[in-house]
Amino acid sequence: MSKVIKNGTVVTADLTYKADVKIDGGKIVEIGPDLTGDEVLDATGCYVMPGGIDPHTHLEMPFMGTYSADDFESGTRAALAGGTTMVIDFALPSPGQGLLDALKMWDNKSTRAHCDYSFHMAVTWWDKQVFDEMPKVIERGITTFKHFMAYKGALMVNDDELYASFSRLAELGGIAMVHAENGDVVAELSAKLLAAGNTGPEAHAYSRPTQVEGEATNRAIMIADMAGVPLYVVHTSCEESHEAIRRAKMQGKRVWGEPLIQHLTLDESEYFNTDWDHAARRVMSPPFRNKQHQDSLWAGLQSGSLSVVATDHCAFTTDQKRTGVGDFTKIPNGTGGLEDRLPMLWTHGVNTGRLTPNEFVAVTSTNIAKILNCYPRKGAVLVGADADLVVWDPEATKTITADSQQSAIDYNVFEGQQVKGLPRYTLTRGRVAFADGKINPEPGHGQFVAREPKGSVNQALSTWKELTAPRPVERSGIPATGV
Ligand code: URP
Ligand code: ZN
Ligand code: ZN
Ligand code: ZN
Repeated sequence: MSKVIKNGTVVTADLTYKADVKIDGGKIVEIGPDLTGDEVLDATGCYVMPGGIDPHTHLEMPFMGTYSADDFESGTRAALAGGTTMVIDFALPSPGQGLLDALKMWDNKSTRAHCDYSFHMAVTWWDKQVFDEMPKVIERGITTFKHFMAYKGALMVNDDELYASFSRLAELGGIAMVHAENGDVVAELSAKLLAAGNTGPEAHAYSRPTQVEGEATNRAIMIADMAGVPLYVVHTSCEESHEAIRRAKMQGKRVWGEPLIQHLTLDESEYFNTDWDHAARRVMSPPFRNKQHQDSLWAGLQSGSLSVVATDHCAFTTDQKRTGVGDFTKIPNGTGGLEDRLPMLWTHGVNTGRLTPNEFVAVTSTNIAKILNCYPRKGAVLVGADADLVVWDPEATKTITADSQQSAIDYNVFEGQQVKGLPRYTLTRGRVAFADGKINPEPGHGQFVAREPKGSVNQALSTWKELTAPRPVERSGIPATGV
């Protein structure tokens, strides 16, 4: 049964044009005028864009003594309702656990996904077993490895471990990722704040100032440069971190930055709300920042110094957040956003003139597909690509509320926000999973997307590093040793 999306305007990362899009067998088979098919989806007044790719989610993740509340079933349902057709989740070995063992757990978690997905691997400890298992993880199609420079005593790895892991990834053609916050300093500041009676959620923000993120980002960039590996900095939230990335890019280093929709649109005043629940629900790392930092992130997206908008979707219920009453360091870190990323970015980005529709597609889909080496199967409207598409109605409006969301939690950090620009249809490999405000679920439809290592950026960087590697100077006359 073929489908045809008719009367729409195709918007990709670099082109805007009127065309129909025909789909068969889960793939785009034809793009052009006056196409026919067994089923017609009307896109009058709409843009036909590559479905969103969210490269940063934590579904059913064991963290801070609990599990994040959205699993692959509810999480990918939320994704599709918001126009996102692929998520990349982090397989997270507990310290001491093998990478392949953790991968089995994530394989089991993801069986009920509604849309396609891939994984990143986290490096939460370091020894020969991790070193030996890294190529096997890459053989499975997982080429991106995240390192936590924060969460001391839990997931954090030190500089020697970062260097060892980054060097191994350089050799294997993988990409290093970092959560860049100085975990030692955060631990010291947290203890000091608690001792001084600062126990509320606002102290979470005080304990993680922008300097700790800027310092760690600079450090990760330098270590990646010495190891010769491309670096992807997750949840870039502030000017200090953005400045480090921007400077590195200007120096020719291979670095990407990923702001979150939360950091772009919500600010630190949320933590000063006198309702404890309101503030704690917004506790995440890095915390929300002030307007100047938000302006820096928007400018980064406009100029290309920042590449991707993600969510870091890691949702905890109010009850889970309340574990931290009396001690902010025990509030599970994380917020939701999967369903809201595209509508919020369109509303605050495209509708304000900060982003063009093409730039919107680039930062929500195409750029990350290229970075992760799954373009043009994903992130494209091209013949032969997977029919992961969103038919986007720029005139449709709604108010975001927890009551109407797909996520399993009891609140939404964007509660009450008016958005203009919503999916009319979301298609996952040709299947209409969301239509006119209603989800059409099929748990298990989602498939794992394996990715190849040694992408073009890896190849270019290795060539450059090889060319500029230290070499002994050839000398004709070597003086006698004076013995
Ligand atoms: O607070 C956050 N970001 N929670 C999820 C885990 C992480 O650090 O990405
Ligand atoms: Zn993180
Ligand atoms: Zn995260
Ligand atoms: Zn299916």
